Amino acid sequence: MIEIENLTKRYGAFTAVDDISFTARPGRVTGFLGPNGAGKSTAMRMMCGLTPATSGSARILGRPYAALPNPTRHVGVMLDASAQHAGRTGREVLTLAAILVGAGRGQVDATLERVGLTSREAERRVGNYSLGMRQRLGLGAALVGDPRVLILDEPANGLDPGGIHWMRGLLRDYARDGGTVLLSSHLLSEVEIIADDLVLIGRGRIVAQGTKEELLSAAGVVVDATDRAALRAAVEQSGLEHTPRPDGTLAVAAQTAEVGELALRHGLVLTSLGSSGGGLEEMFLTLTSDDAREVAA
Ligand SMILES: Nc1ncnc2c1ncn2[C@@H]1O[C@H](COP(=O)(O)OP(=O)(O)O)[C@@H](O)[C@H]1O
Ligand SMILES: [Mg+2]
Repeated sequence: MIEIENLTKRYGAFTAVDDISFTARPGRVTGFLGPNGAGKSTAMRMMCGLTPATSGSARILGRPYAALPNPTRHVGVMLDASAQHAGRTGREVLTLAAILVGAGRGQVDATLERVGLTSREAERRVGNYSLGMRQRLGLGAALVGDPRVLILDEPANGLDPGGIHWMRGLLRDYARDGGTVLLSSHLLSEVEIIADDLVLIGRGRIVAQGTKEELLSAAGVVVDATDRAALRAAVEQSGLEHTPRPDGTLAVAAQTAEVGELALRHGLVLTSLGSSGGGLEEMFLTLTSDDAREVAA
């Protein structure tokens, strides 16, 4: 569990993190999403006691990071994957991490396998690693002590789509065993794949939070059926707000289950039914364009 309350960081007159509050729960992967410069890394550094907060608090497993007995054992942290010593091999980096958290050396091979680095890759110097390999190694260093909480800053950065799905699998399994994961990203597509819960941040402030389903379904669903005319008639009759889309599908302001039940009552064969994703995407685009304006100004 990670509990953030009114956390604020000011640098002089500039507020990098502005009074944010949220909870990352065990058993869930929480995505911390926002454009570059939104304040994600600053917030995560405060959670790990690397940057003092101006005000507010961050508690991990009930205590501030610095007050945890042997914090590296309980909290796996990856803040900057490029910070690893370039002259060391992957195996050396992981062995040092294992020693640091008091994990057995036997954990090193198991962890390499867990993060998908072959023993051949592990013998190479980190300076010759691709960004994706560094991310895997960084994740390994965070996992090696078998912590209950993971704090990962942009862990999917540099991974190809296959790598992102692999990471989803790894973090889902970790959460299913009761772990708490907080991961940041500046890409909606990444957190959409990986996260269960979302916290959306822009210019230091939280603009939305909730489960991924809640945030996605806020904009309604998109539905299609073998008999489009009958679908349209059924939706019209139900009184639900709806809009035909250019591709022939229908956008409906409702939850997926409502539309599913409607289809069942009318004996319609649906060919697709899902969240439109419009709400979240729009919110995120607004944040991103705000940011772009700021840079341009
Ligand atoms: N040490 C610092 N001094 C002054 N400003 C900082 C410092 N660290 C970060 N910032 C500013 O705080 C804002 C948030 O940065 P950051 O937390 O790195 O955002 P993100 O990780 O979301 O991209 C940025 O505008 C950044 O320039
Ligand atoms: Mg950052």
